[in-house]
Amino acid sequence: MAGETLIIGGGVVGLAIARELHKRGHSDITIVDKGICGQEASWAAGGMLGPQAESDHGGEFFDLCSESRDLYPQFAKELLAETGVDVELDTNGTLYVAFSSIEMAKLKSRFELHRGRGLTVELLDAADIRRREPFISPDVVGGLFFPNDWQIENRKLILALRKYAELNRIEIVENCEIDKIETKDGTVTRAMAADREFECESVVLCAGAWTNKLGLATAGIVPVRGQMICYRTAKRVYEHVIYSSRGYIVPRRDGRVLAGSTSEFVGYSKGVTDAGIATLREMAEEISPSLASQTPYDSWSGLRPKATEEMPVIGRIEGLSNAFIAAGHYRNGILLAPLTANMIADRFDIDTTVMPNRISATN
Ligand code: GLY
Repeated sequence: MAGETLIIGGGVVGLAIARELHKRGHSDITIVDKGICGQEASWAAGGMLGPQAESDHGGEFFDLCSESRDLYPQFAKELLAETGVDVELDTNGTLYVAFSSIEMAKLKSRFELHRGRGLTVELLDAADIRRREPFISPDVVGGLFFPNDWQIENRKLILALRKYAELNRIEIVENCEIDKIETKDGTVTRAMAADREFECESVVLCAGAWTNKLGLATAGIVPVRGQMICYRTAKRVYEHVIYSSRGYIVPRRDGRVLAGSTSEFVGYSKGVTDAGIATLREMAEEISPSLASQTPYDSWSGLRPKATEEMPVIGRIEGLSNAFIAAGHYRNGILLAPLTANMIADRFDIDTTVMPNRISATN
């Protein structure tokens, strides 16, 4: 029977794991976060559920992202019923636009690849795109439409998952940084913060870009800063998430338009820079010149957790019978959260070892 489970890291992944374990009958779940749950990469994200837009090749990672995307309609529906929070799943789809014949040739290759894999994708000319998005740049020469690449409002998702925890007596301990994890005879026995100790029967490490600092896993996770800016339009003027090869814009239901994102190896330094904002404005205004008449009203940054080979690390930690890791989701933490939660919950009651840095759907 389930005993005390300690989840270290209360971002979207940790919160989703807590919920899934609780739904499967585990009790005494504690989430401990070094700050406030969901306020790091989960908060900074754009909320795109876009395996096809984010990947120009297939493979295991792509399949994982697609599988998790497919879980979202049910996930969103359940969260609404469980918490009353609408996470604003938006299934209008995603456009990927090209500004030159070279970019269009690359998109055509992606079109062939996706079609060859049986994925839904449409090849559009400039007029098609303008019909769908009247405010798109006249310089767009064509693009792709991914009807199954969606978005959610990631901040509402955090709210919903947190509310689930609160309603179901999952303990949340915030502003508490774990700095040591003790092991004995191949098991984790307790985790320690400066002024608090947590005895635990199982532990899940899902502290995003900070996971390596916990010391147990050797997944080589490093932070990659992403800056974002946000415009506000009086009402929603874009129907779709729109990518170019230089970034993306994400229209929200309430008229906000997010634009992202930079990828910077600057350690744990958060914050936005003039250069970052200028690059994002240029990218967004290239997609839709009408944004040039606006000054972004908000900006922020987050640290994506990038693991070796850009593959997330999900499974039991080698050599430890009661310790799991779910980290390194890099650009796709929001997208992969429901599947990651299922994968970790599936592994909780089986006695196999999964090497760090490997994904396995069977162990
Ligand atoms: N998933 C988009 C990004 O990380 O910028």
